[in-house]
Amino acid sequence: MPRRERPSILLIGHGAVAAEVRAAALSTGLFDVGAVLVRHEKLGAVQAELNGYRVIDSLADLDFQPLLAAECASHTAVRQYGPALLRQGIDMVVASIGALSDEGLHRELEAAAMEGGAKLILPAGAVPGIDALNAATLGGLTRVSYISRKPPAAWKGTPAETILDLDALKDAATFYTGTARAAARDYPKNANVAATVALAGLGFDATEVRMIADPAVTTNIHEIEASGAFGDMHLTIKGKPLKSNPKTSSLAAYSTIRAILNRVRVTEI
Ligand SMILES: NC(=O)c1ccc[n+]([C@@H]2O[C@H](COP(=O)([O-])OP(=O)(O)OC[C@H]3O[C@@H](n4cnc5c(N)ncnc54)[C@H](O)[C@@H]3O)[C@@H](O)[C@H]2O)c1
Repeated sequence: MPRRERPSILLIGHGAVAAEVRAAALSTGLFDVGAVLVRHEKLGAVQAELNGYRVIDSLADLDFQPLLAAECASHTAVRQYGPALLRQGIDMVVASIGALSDEGLHRELEAAAMEGGAKLILPAGAVPGIDALNAATLGGLTRVSYISRKPPAAWKGTPAETILDLDALKDAATFYTGTARAAARDYPKNANVAATVALAGLGFDATEVRMIADPAVTTNIHEIEASGAFGDMHLTIKGKPLKSNPKTSSLAAYSTIRAILNRVRVTEI
């Protein structure tokens, strides 16, 4: 019987999530990182840092057919590399799911995937229940709501600053209530979870989003409420961030790795 060869992936990015993917390749021994794709201006520095890895700055330098590409970089990277990879028949795991709030880009990626016979793979990221929420669409969903509660300082650098005095806040304050589409547009740095919930459930225009600055909390808390023919669901997660990037939940990295492992393990769960 032929032995299964250890597959190689293309890793896009070299930040916090990408480091976890490289570590998982070594610790599980189930896949290799065949190449790391970085921005041109970072090429030399990353080559020096990632000794032993093939580091490239263009898809033209990809000299093997990867099992898949794991995007762990940015919305720009999804736009920059996604269509070409999918058109070449290379499946793509996307961590920067907020990029798909741009309907035009989502359509372009889907068209490229159809053309190449490839798949766009969207891991659950930082939140639980995405599998259940998506399954529930089959029976019909009547309401999906996502609440993002963070310490006031976590909302600095967003339009929340113009609505609230974040430094003086004594009690929890809701500063945004609206659709997932407007939330992703106005708060792009916080768009990943809203986009994931929207794509799994009722879509960007029918998913309600609430954003709260709460001085009583120290971590980022995500809540998902959904109702439909399946019943009712209310999930809360207080995720711990990665040490290497306090803005990224550790679960976001683990769910990207899980998506890769599901492609290489015999049992998919
Ligand atoms: N789905 C979720 O729930 C979820 C949660 C957290 C983070 N994320 C997303 O995952 C991505 C990675 O997160 P991170 O914590 O590793 O970020 P990070 O800032 O630590 O690392 C990102 C890396 O990607 C590189 N990069 C950016 N644009 C690039 C491009 N066009 N081409 C090549 N490389 C590029 C950067 O140089 C950097 O090394 C981010 O986009 C983040 O928004 C998703």
